Amino acid sequence: MWAELNESTDGLRGPHLFSPPSGPITFNEIAAILQGARDAPGSTKLNYFRAYVEGREDYDLARRFLEAEDFSADRVEATILRAFEPDWGHYGKRAGLIINGGLQWSHDVHERLVPHAKALCASVSGTITIDVTLFIGSYGATPFGAHVDDATHRTVIFNLGPGSKKLSIWSREGVEEQFGRVRNIMDTGTIRTAPARYDLRPGQAFVLPSDEFHIAYNNEVSTAATLVLDHVSDVRLAERELALLRRDLDEEESGSKFWALTLTRLCEMGRQRSRSNGFLRYAPPKRSVTMEGLQRHSEIRIDPRWPVLVERVGAAAVVYARSRHFVADHIARAAVKLAAAGQATVGEFLEVVVADGGDLATGLRVIEFLLSSRGANIE
Ligand SMILES: [Fe+2]
Repeated sequence: MWAELNESTDGLRGPHLFSPPSGPITFNEIAAILQGARDAPGSTKLNYFRAYVEGREDYDLARRFLEAEDFSADRVEATILRAFEPDWGHYGKRAGLIINGGLQWSHDVHERLVPHAKALCASVSGTITIDVTLFIGSYGATPFGAHVDDATHRTVIFNLGPGSKKLSIWSREGVEEQFGRVRNIMDTGTIRTAPARYDLRPGQAFVLPSDEFHIAYNNEVSTAATLVLDHVSDVRLAERELALLRRDLDEEESGSKFWALTLTRLCEMGRQRSRSNGFLRYAPPKRSVTMEGLQRHSEIRIDPRWPVLVERVGAAAVVYARSRHFVADHIARAAVKLAAAGQATVGEFLEVVVADGGDLATGLRVIEFLLSSRGANIE
């Protein structure tokens, strides 16, 4: 699907309405994301939720929704319908939620997206990361009006229903002729040119021209899952990588090889990080692991869909697994060997670490990192 779609839509620029034989996200994945978010500890997760009731932002809806509702796979659609029916929904009239970063709460959704991400990466040029955004409910239009997205984004919307979702698109040229260089128009009634209108019925998908002015209307209850591709520039890739490594680098002395990393190198490392997670933007939730049952002959196995990648920096190595990283000295050869073979026993792995001057505790921490990040399994 992706190669032809990319070809026929000018690199996913759209507009293009179509009926995919099967989309990447179903209500099973919606359920997995919502369950994962509910079970995730802490409250920073709520930063990824924006909720609206009658055209106004509601700062407490997401918390209540996550606490109270039934997100089992066979009930989630009914839950959404009851919660967000426009006139008698549980949270008020015309209510709904926009959820960013959907991937961070569900490993199952990562698994489901692997073939799609692979096909996408094979058909588009440059480095991309892929994220999932959900638009749920009957909140009408978002209060910020018609807008253009980040120019590096490509967006494909899958409407799972039950209701339809409407979109209006105005050419950027026309809007800029009237208003100059703006990013959003609150009152779309003031736009002189007529929009192109699209009606996404349940089961349909739409390649959104995110660089033209657009607005979506959820007048009925709908659940839309959006794949957002970000064409990450090399500088942003390097910048993001530096930010993610920062805490580890704070401990490096100024003579360390880390201080000699160039932008080019950081960019390459960012690409490795992304590749270790199949180019999906967010790492999946960590798995809780106990190291007690571990034996010398227990086998560490790497799932080839999620490669473990190793970057040597001086005496240290940065090990990437599922978009997370681990930094330590003396582990490079052991990690490279494991990554290349795809498997090793715990004993074999630790022997190489020790032979290179590392200690057992560090070796065990690498194994724990690989298991908890889901970069490897133990058999
Ligand atoms: Fe947008």
